[in-house]
Amino acid sequence: MTKKITPCKIRKKKKENEKLVFLTAYDYPSARILEKTDIDGALVGDSVGNTVLGYENTLPVSMDEMIHHTKAVSKGLETPLLVSDMPFLSYQTSAETAVENSGRLLKEGKAEAVKIEGGSEYEEEIKKVIDAGIPVMGHLGLTPQKIQQYDGYKPRGKSVKEAKQIFEDAKKLEEIGAFSIVLESVPTELAEKITQELEIPTIGIGAGSKCDGQILVLHDLLGISKRQPKFVKSYADLSSKIEKAVKDYETEVKKEEFPTSEHSYNMGEELRKKFEKSLEKNE
Ligand code: KIV
Repeated sequence: MTKKITPCKIRKKKKENEKLVFLTAYDYPSARILEKTDIDGALVGDSVGNTVLGYENTLPVSMDEMIHHTKAVSKGLETPLLVSDMPFLSYQTSAETAVENSGRLLKEGKAEAVKIEGGSEYEEEIKKVIDAGIPVMGHLGLTPQKIQQYDGYKPRGKSVKEAKQIFEDAKKLEEIGAFSIVLESVPTELAEKITQELEIPTIGIGAGSKCDGQILVLHDLLGISKRQPKFVKSYADLSSKIEKAVKDYETEVKKEEFPTSEHSYNMGEELRKKFEKSLEKNE
């Protein structure tokens, strides 16, 4: 049986009590590395804006940028499910726009599913995308495309009213056909309740250990991000390793220790002599 992960398999894994593992990816080399692991899915998040493109937040990320990065990831990824994020204002304005832009992520970017932030406020848009045959991963709790409205990256669902809204939104997303839901920065108890209530899997980030799976931003995991929220665990400190490698290179070039003959091409004695002679003749 093929190992290819599909939205159906993601749903099945919840039934079989198998924890789901997702990571973000933004380019071909990292996709190739993820392909060597057994993770279930890679998300080309609009976090590409702050992690890779140097933007202050995810709001400036365009459809063309999402397609560009999704295409690169698709070239290196075969087995894990490839999900791509719908960026700010690519779906909020109308159901038609939502279908058109989701379709572009599949047709041009080669994504296999899209992720859309928000709940019942975008019911019509999300439903139309699903009805068009595009698998949708929901995203509730802290939704970074609304940071201006909610005063930054604060955890959500910390009042009864807000927790209830997130709970109801999760049920609505399942009802209209989402195949999974990311829960970001919500209390563990709320994430647990939603996870128990739904048949589709919950993928947590800053949502405690009771979700059906977890997702992390690859650059946070590797220790090369600027911002490190409380819920991040870095499994490596690549930033200092990269800095050291660059400094070692700089030192060796300045001391003329690099490149050595090991890293150089040679003409060989015979060819060199012929070459020099030909130069003399031209004089
Ligand atoms: O854009 C992103 O990387 C995300 C994850 C944090 C879930 O939405």
